[in-house]
Amino acid sequence: MPHMTAYTKMTAQERKDEYARMSAKFEELKARGLKLNMARGKPGKDQLDMVSDVIFNLMDEPGDFVSNGIDVRNYGEMSGIPAAKQLFAEILDCRVEQVFVGGNSSLQLMYDTISKAYTHGLLHSVRPWCREEKVKWLCPVPGYDRHFKITESFGFEMVNIPMTSDGPDMDVVEEAVKDPAVKGIWCVPKYSNPDGIIYSDETVRRMAALKPAAPDFTVMWDNAYCVHEFEGDYVEFPDILAACAEAGNPDLVFEFASTSKITLPGAGVACFATSEANLKYMEQLLTIQIISFDKVNQQRHVLYLQNKAHTLELMKKHAAILGPKFHAVLDALDREIAPLDIATWCRPKGGYFISLNAMPGTAKRTWELCREAGVVMTGAGATFPYGKDPADSNLRIAPTLPPVEELEQAIEVLCVCLKLSALEKLGV
Ligand SMILES: Cc1ncc(COP(=O)(O)O)c(C=O)c1O
Repeated sequence: MPHMTAYTKMTAQERKDEYARMSAKFEELKARGLKLNMARGKPGKDQLDMVSDVIFNLMDEPGDFVSNGIDVRNYGEMSGIPAAKQLFAEILDCRVEQVFVGGNSSLQLMYDTISKAYTHGLLHSVRPWCREEKVKWLCPVPGYDRHFKITESFGFEMVNIPMTSDGPDMDVVEEAVKDPAVKGIWCVPKYSNPDGIIYSDETVRRMAALKPAAPDFTVMWDNAYCVHEFEGDYVEFPDILAACAEAGNPDLVFEFASTSKITLPGAGVACFATSEANLKYMEQLLTIQIISFDKVNQQRHVLYLQNKAHTLELMKKHAAILGPKFHAVLDALDREIAPLDIATWCRPKGGYFISLNAMPGTAKRTWELCREAGVVMTGAGATFPYGKDPADSNLRIAPTLPPVEELEQAIEVLCVCLKLSALEKLGV
């Protein structure tokens, strides 16, 4: 079969023929009038139904609104109810005294941490970051577009850090933090967005032991996918807070997590965990901002999730829904693209994404072709600061939202578009 030869090994005529075949296929797909979305990491409706069928039926008697003697309906307990702190401490394997439980979004807590650094400074800041001449920020790439948007919006100069299969290239990070203008780094340590990489123990150890020139350098440790295996058993992961304390860097890190992809993204509970000294400092600022977060929702989550073991059981049920979706994408790529040698991709066992590296110089074109055929993907370049992928190669596939049948069609479109853009690049 001619189309199973690597494109670079084809003769010009073979490529021409293949291009004609794929163009016809593209037109056929376009004529289906598809409207499919593989853009954002959202749970599917069946996952949401599974949760909402139960979680909203747990609180109907007055006693259900009392947690450790606290009436969760009233003001108070700005840092969260103790039972919710206990739940997150278990999930993150840190100490309960280190946990702050907030509202429904960890991204908001991240934004707020940076925002407070900017307006007021952090615990070890000499001055608020708005008074610094320049703030630089380390961004492992490819990474999460919304992280990059936060640091971009505060005018920080973002510095790309290459990812390796063990996490950010720590040689580069250790060198970069010698610059006192470098104030922090974004990290998604488990099932990184989008590569699905789990940082190695060595990477975690080196991150915790950094010796930055800036006294208020901050590791933003976004553990968004801490219990989010969709294949295989739960993978234990080191507690960064303990690692920092051991390395003599107790205040280096803010860790974030939420139940957005455990329960409901629109109505979950988020937290951050940090040293007690950092927590005390942040609480002084937060208490000016809010009297208390939604503790009814915190209590609802405590009743629903109960503890880490029970949470992991729920994650197995999510995995049963998500696993087949990831496999549908990976199987199609293996079948259609692997023999052609025009792209590489990751094979995560958790998280919400598949990261695909198309032939350099073809990601934008592939994205445009997909859109033309009714398939929306995360914008090409979005996984890099300022939306600029120097190689124009990385595409993030988010396979979790569409039902499998729709996903199969979407990935069929993506495969054809990858082929067309590669053939165009090679010359047809
Ligand atoms: C790495 C990462 N962090 C944070 C979020 C958003 O979290 P939240 O819903 O808690 O704001 C996402 C959502 O896709 C994510 O991928």
